[in-house]
Amino acid sequence: MTNIKNFHKFIKKNLKDRSFYIVTNREPYIHTKTSTGIKVSKTAGGVHTLLDLVAQASNAVYIAQGSGNADKYVVNKHNMVAMPPITKTYFLKRVFLSKKELENFYYGFSNQTLWPLSHAVFVKPEFNAVWWSYYQQVNQKFVNAILEELDHKPAFVWVNDYHLALVPKMLRDSGKDIKIGTFWHIPWPTFEIFRVNPWAKEILTGLLGSDFIGFHRGYHAQNFFQCVQRIIEAQVELDQSQITYKEHATKVEPLAAGIDYQEILEIKQDAKITLKKNLNKELGVNIKYLAVGVDRLDYTKGLLERFKMIDRFLEKYPQFQEKFIYYGIMPFSRTHIPAYRTYAKTVTDLCDKINWKYSKNDWTPIHITTESLPRNKVITYYKNADVCLVTPLDDGLNLVAKEYVLSCEEKKGMIVLSKFAGAANDLRHSLLINPYNIEQGADAINQALTISEQEKRDRNIKMRKELKEKNIYQWATTFIEKTLYE
Ligand code: G6P
Repeated sequence: MTNIKNFHKFIKKNLKDRSFYIVTNREPYIHTKTSTGIKVSKTAGGVHTLLDLVAQASNAVYIAQGSGNADKYVVNKHNMVAMPPITKTYFLKRVFLSKKELENFYYGFSNQTLWPLSHAVFVKPEFNAVWWSYYQQVNQKFVNAILEELDHKPAFVWVNDYHLALVPKMLRDSGKDIKIGTFWHIPWPTFEIFRVNPWAKEILTGLLGSDFIGFHRGYHAQNFFQCVQRIIEAQVELDQSQITYKEHATKVEPLAAGIDYQEILEIKQDAKITLKKNLNKELGVNIKYLAVGVDRLDYTKGLLERFKMIDRFLEKYPQFQEKFIYYGIMPFSRTHIPAYRTYAKTVTDLCDKINWKYSKNDWTPIHITTESLPRNKVITYYKNADVCLVTPLDDGLNLVAKEYVLSCEEKKGMIVLSKFAGAANDLRHSLLINPYNIEQGADAINQALTISEQEKRDRNIKMRKELKEKNIYQWATTFIEKTLYE
């Protein structure tokens, strides 16, 4: 198994004198003002938690947007601060955006154009020339932050996600000796969808500045090839997984991200299994079955469909009434975007409606929090839950799914997973559903709660074997190897 130690050795041996930079929009730690002074905290889970681990193991410089209200007070004159707070193994370099840049680059082009364009969820992307011009401007700002740090040494830059699609080309145009690997964490749409983007060509040529582009699923890479073939004049060699554009070759391959197997097992070991008892006490109920879900409040996550499944499950299998609760951890996300605000309201209204429909004595089936909880608490929920519901309508990977399978009790926990989540490929022994099929979802919840302990154990063991092998360090090693050598 590749672990943190091997990864560290691999970096030393293979990057040699190349300095290593990771560039992404979301920072792993923020500084905020409190009544007792400045506090540093980890930002809620996601891709950046993986990149934080990669940076810790490799001493990379991590370049990201400074988003905490005290971020600027703790950085040095290069906008850098040593992180993580205690071990301080790498430098976080913050890029500060103006309100206008944030509005147009992050809330605009990234999350109202590229995000809905890339996810097949029937939310119409908006195309706005001002957002696009800020997207270009902010991508250049990130590039400048990297170039500021480069000395005369060659470099390796890991570019992360849809916020920074133009960075690879901009870096290549700088003429410096840089190996560029890009990971696109969200789905890549079909040609018929992608072609409506007025800046389709610029996005594609921006990404083709990379030496390697990784996607989570094979069909995301296939869609990308098709878009390149039909939109720009490039040489596409499908058998080599390679695209040559203006004499520069880019490898494009699927490479699903893994999780930190060891870290999760350690947190799990300390997590108590008394949560159900505590919840019963706190809520004054006597529940036997606990379901959990952990998602940003985002319209791609299939939350309305999930609550409809719970409704149908309680209707069709009434023996679970007063014995089952669903605990949803669903922090607000991107709330300045109207589609997110409307979605949050529709979701919470539906929960109220279902709770009213079934409420009996002190029991209501759905309990939610819109705050994000610390990692050890989330893992405690996973460990105690009999079932985890992961029902996105479309999703690049979904780390929650992988984390739950590893954190649950082997003989007790079972995952109900959307086959449209990238993680479904590695978690084929989960209870796979089409999230639009409410009846199937309701039956899957029943199945998860009624199949034998032996069957749960068999399924979980098979999935954990994959998670152990294809862990985060294996993923990062392969990503770097492909960028350096292929
Ligand atoms: C997805 C994206 C990430 C992003 C995360 C959280 O997983 O692929 O790049 O960081 O959502 O979204 P946010 O807008 O809060 O960074």
